[in-house]
Amino acid sequence: MDIEVRVIRDDEFEAFERLDRRAFQFAPEEPEVEESWARGELDRAFAALVDGEIVGIGRNYSFDLTVPGGARVRTGAVSWIGVSPTHRRRGVLTAMMAALAADSRDRGESASILTASEGSIYRRFGYGTATDRVGVTIESARSAFVTTVATRSHAGRVRFVEIDEATAMFPAIYEQTRGRVGSVSRPEFWWPTVLFGYPSKDPRFMVVHETAGKVDGYAVYLVGGTWSGGVSDRTIEVLDLQAPDPAVHLALWRFLLDIDLVARVSAGHVAIDDPLRWALADPRRFRIAYRNDGLHIRPLDVAALCSARTYVASDVLRFAVDDAQGHRSEFELDAATSTCVPGPCDSRGSSGREPDLVVADHVLGAVLLGARSVTEFVASGGVTGTAEAVSRADRIFATPTAPALLTSF
Ligand SMILES: CC(C)(COP(=O)(O)OP(=O)(O)OC[C@H]1O[C@@H](n2cnc3c(N)ncnc32)[C@H](O)[C@@H]1OP(=O)(O)O)[C@@H](O)C(=O)NCCC(=O)NCCS
Repeated sequence: MDIEVRVIRDDEFEAFERLDRRAFQFAPEEPEVEESWARGELDRAFAALVDGEIVGIGRNYSFDLTVPGGARVRTGAVSWIGVSPTHRRRGVLTAMMAALAADSRDRGESASILTASEGSIYRRFGYGTATDRVGVTIESARSAFVTTVATRSHAGRVRFVEIDEATAMFPAIYEQTRGRVGSVSRPEFWWPTVLFGYPSKDPRFMVVHETAGKVDGYAVYLVGGTWSGGVSDRTIEVLDLQAPDPAVHLALWRFLLDIDLVARVSAGHVAIDDPLRWALADPRRFRIAYRNDGLHIRPLDVAALCSARTYVASDVLRFAVDDAQGHRSEFELDAATSTCVPGPCDSRGSSGREPDLVVADHVLGAVLLGARSVTEFVASGGVTGTAEAVSRADRIFATPTAPALLTSF
């Protein structure tokens, strides 16, 4: 079967959307895609064609990613991956992933990133899970704060806003949280549909927090569920809650947990170290509903990627990366200066040195932001080296705080 992968033409947009609907099983009458998000960066939207028919789709968005130390690395954010059920398991995705990686490389992006519909798809293409996606549920009636937090007076207030104010204010607040390792940029076309839900009919509630008249946080939420026997069993679902100041972050949580006629508050994107846990009088009530794969990273330019982040340890590591196509590249990382260069293992003939460690590209992607150690992967494959080298790599890649991606894409 010959598969052609190329950027879609203007007149193919409708077929592109239709394929998305078929791959993800959206009912035809639903607004299957969200307009601004669908229309953003169409010059990076690809289709896979067989006999002239679109049978697969996928695209890159130009996102930057915050790495340890605070630098923002340019990446290609893969999204909208779908293959028609009529052509599944014939290599269509494989062909598209090659085209999307080539598109990223052509633009000088040092990594490809994505979030996955299933955990089983992308490791084979070199992606490692660099953050955890964490969902929590807190019962409102069990959400009292510990006295030290509860008694701290907070001068702020919360007020509702509508779409115009939200559009004008939220991006700047989000931008102030971008120091968080694992966070990504949100282009202008992301907001109207991915967060505000246009043209979906979900009633979304939006609030801002203000301190001394200055907006310093916001939350967006839905309320779902039913009443049972005259008692509300409804749930607030937090879609986004952003505040650079942890005290404001907690004030927004307190607001949500105090809303009447709901039984609980759930959030599908929280950091594992969200301060809410230790603010609760009973931290066990910060109930983790799930903890699975969040941001996946595939290194495309290892030297650039490893040079972009900083390291707490000062050590030198010679390592090799095996990619999914069986190609090995070798690097020397000087953690003290955050300098990663190809070789000298590349010239092993003259230096005579073996790399200290060999890792699969998905392992490097997984450890890059510090969410996990190299040691975690030794038993499952993808790491070759002495225990001493593995433990040195663990110390080098470790970070003081947990990375988190709190943006859907
Ligand atoms: C997931 C999906 C894109 C795979 O496309 P595809 O064209 O069938 O994939 P390929 O034929 O290129 O498969 C490549 C390899 O990945 C494996 N694979 C593909 N999808 C897989 C899945 N969901 N789970 C486990 N393995 C999978 C294949 O078995 C194949 O393995 P092999 O090389 O050992 O034979 C397609 O099934 C689909 O559109 N699913 C619904 C929408 C979706 O989930 N999209 C992904 C959004 S992140």
